[in-house]
Amino acid sequence: MINPLPLCVFMLTLSGCTTAQEATDIAFLLDGSGSVTADQFTTMKTFVKNVTSALLEFDTLFAFVQYSTETTIHVNFAQFNRTGFENQVDDIIQTNRGTNTASGIRTVVEDVFNSSAGARPEANRILIVITDGQSSDASLYPTVTSLADGKNITRYAIGVGNAFSIPSALDELNSIASPPESDHVFRVDSFKALDLIATELEMSIIPTADVVVGMRLRVSSTKSLNETEIEEQVLKPFADKLRDQGITVAGIELRRVYTVEP
Ligand SMILES: *[C@@H]1O[C@H](CO)[C@@H](O)[C@H](O)[C@H]1NC(C)=O
Ligand SMILES: *[C@@H]1O[C@H](CO)[C@@H](O)[C@H](O)[C@H]1NC(C)=O
Ligand SMILES: *[C@@H]1O[C@H](CO)[C@@H](O)[C@H](O)[C@H]1NC(C)=O
Ligand SMILES: *[C@@H]1O[C@H](CO)[C@@H](O)[C@H](O)[C@H]1NC(C)=O
Ligand SMILES: *[C@@H]1O[C@H](CO)[C@@H](O)[C@H](O)[C@H]1NC(C)=O
Ligand SMILES: [Mg+2]
Repeated sequence: MINPLPLCVFMLTLSGCTTAQEATDIAFLLDGSGSVTADQFTTMKTFVKNVTSALLEFDTLFAFVQYSTETTIHVNFAQFNRTGFENQVDDIIQTNRGTNTASGIRTVVEDVFNSSAGARPEANRILIVITDGQSSDASLYPTVTSLADGKNITRYAIGVGNAFSIPSALDELNSIASPPESDHVFRVDSFKALDLIATELEMSIIPTADVVVGMRLRVSSTKSLNETEIEEQVLKPFADKLRDQGITVAGIELRRVYTVEP
């Protein structure tokens, strides 16, 4: 029994039940060099479409970039078309020239993860590089991966062709990917990369905090009330009054009772 009850503190929970999700910007960088066969390039594009379509339900934006000797930004985050992305990927024609993978990564880090290209400053950033792993500018990997780290870009390396049978190619995938390699290096025909990214995105869905209002209520009553009675006789009628005013009150609960002498 709480007796006397000069002052009580309770919490109101208003509205609620919505969820929010962290935004994520995902850039794909495709190896369009001549060492990649036309079939392999088609498989790369299928992979890009599969991953994009599986992650559309999240708060995601995508960019599609191809590199060979030069790098071409086909679709940046601002140009990404949620309903027409399959056409956007299908429209990418393989360049078939040299293999400047590190330079391609630099272009994505500087020009695609850039607010002028529609990148969202508060978004998580993911770069997915799809390659056979035999570049001509491998000496630049430390420089470009540290640029990417400076922008908190998580890097996945997806191997096609002989990427896993030629040791130097596998080394390149490992140099491109964020550590640990076991979580960030995959074959293009594996669904593990997609599963891992989807799991990460699912974990970033957070319920919006209810608006919690704390109030102090001075009760001038000589009656002694237990906690159930306070809820029934004081708080619920108060919540009903708020509802009458058009305020959505999801719940009301007594958090703490101070028995301060008046
Ligand atoms: C793309 O998705 C289809 C349908 O789930 C699947 O059969 C195919 O193996 C996937 N291809 C790639 C490269 O991810
Ligand atoms: C997005 O793609 C859809 C389907 O292809 C197309 O109808 C629409 O015009 C495109 N939107 C833009 C802004 O290009
Ligand atoms: C962002 O892109 C603009 C041009 O589109 C470029 O001038 C600027 O240097 C880029 N920002 C960074 C940080 O690279
Ligand atoms: C990268 O992440 C760190 C730690 O969360 C943060 O302090 C920093 O501001 C981030 N940098 C950028 C460019 O978002
Ligand atoms: C509070 O008091 C009422 C009687 O007014 C009683 O029925 C109820 O069991 C009490 N509840 C608690 C938690 O003590
Ligand atoms: Mg090549």
